[in-house]
Amino acid sequence: MTPTPPGLEELKRYLQERHGFDLEHYSRSFLERRLLLRLRHHNVAGYEEYLSVLLKDRREYLDLINTLSVNVTEFFRDAALYQAVAERVLPKIKERNFRNGSRAVKAWSAGCASGQEAYTLAMLLDDYFGAQAPAWACEVHASDIQENFLAEARTGKYPKGKAAQIPASFRKRYVIEDGGHVSMAPRLKKLVNFFKHDLASPPPLESLDLLFCRNVMIYFNGETKEKILRWFHRCLNPDGFLVLGACEIILKADLFQLADSEHKIYHRAAHDA
Ligand SMILES: C[S@@+](CC[C@H](N)C(=O)[O-])C[C@H]1O[C@@H](n2cnc3c(N)ncnc32)[C@H](O)[C@@H]1O
Repeated sequence: MTPTPPGLEELKRYLQERHGFDLEHYSRSFLERRLLLRLRHHNVAGYEEYLSVLLKDRREYLDLINTLSVNVTEFFRDAALYQAVAERVLPKIKERNFRNGSRAVKAWSAGCASGQEAYTLAMLLDDYFGAQAPAWACEVHASDIQENFLAEARTGKYPKGKAAQIPASFRKRYVIEDGGHVSMAPRLKKLVNFFKHDLASPPPLESLDLLFCRNVMIYFNGETKEKILRWFHRCLNPDGFLVLGACEIILKADLFQLADSEHKIYHRAAHDA
């Protein structure tokens, strides 16, 4: 591994001690790429100088956190994945839960940014499980480390252009057009519970059927990734499913096995981790 650049350890220590923000979980390459944006913004050459900017300017901490939190997201991001989930994953969840005497389904969007993934999941679950007679109870939990993303997610209101990827049949039922904006229908909002959670700490959820953690794990180092995967294994039901981003893979076959390699859908391994 390349030597740690001067000042990086001091910067990490300051953020941990002053703000409880732990940069250790992020991969070195991601961290250095994102920090460089702040260094350039302040026209400073190194981490030592950047630390003095942080000490002088209280607002810089918020800008730094925003820079570290890439929040790109979309409704129905990778449409074919959602089709695969609807056609192949939801029927399996239904069969398993029904066999166990349950008429409920529980999902988690971990690292949900401004909420589009969580609302997409809510549409999918309501469309499939809400159509059963009698309708099943659907719960979507959605978390992020960034309070400002969660605040936006809770409004359920987005610029109209962002709803373009929502298929017309879903838009008709779940989206209310309002001038230049769209709002999620109240019955959809009721299904989603947004909460603040740092993925590097143990999750407060259990008995999940479906866990989406897409385009988040890429920021973490190997050790933190493994810890998170063990927690995910623990909070999923036996036979539960984990869905990752299009470019993410898991090599922990003792915890998760590929159910669909094209769409990065994993099946929880049956044993206790
Ligand atoms: C690129 S977005 C992914 C959004 C969505 N999952 C998707 O794929 O469209 C990454 C999100 O991960 C969140 N994130 C980064 N570090 C996190 C952490 N330690 N705990 C929880 N969320 C985190 C960021 O705030 C950001 O909203």
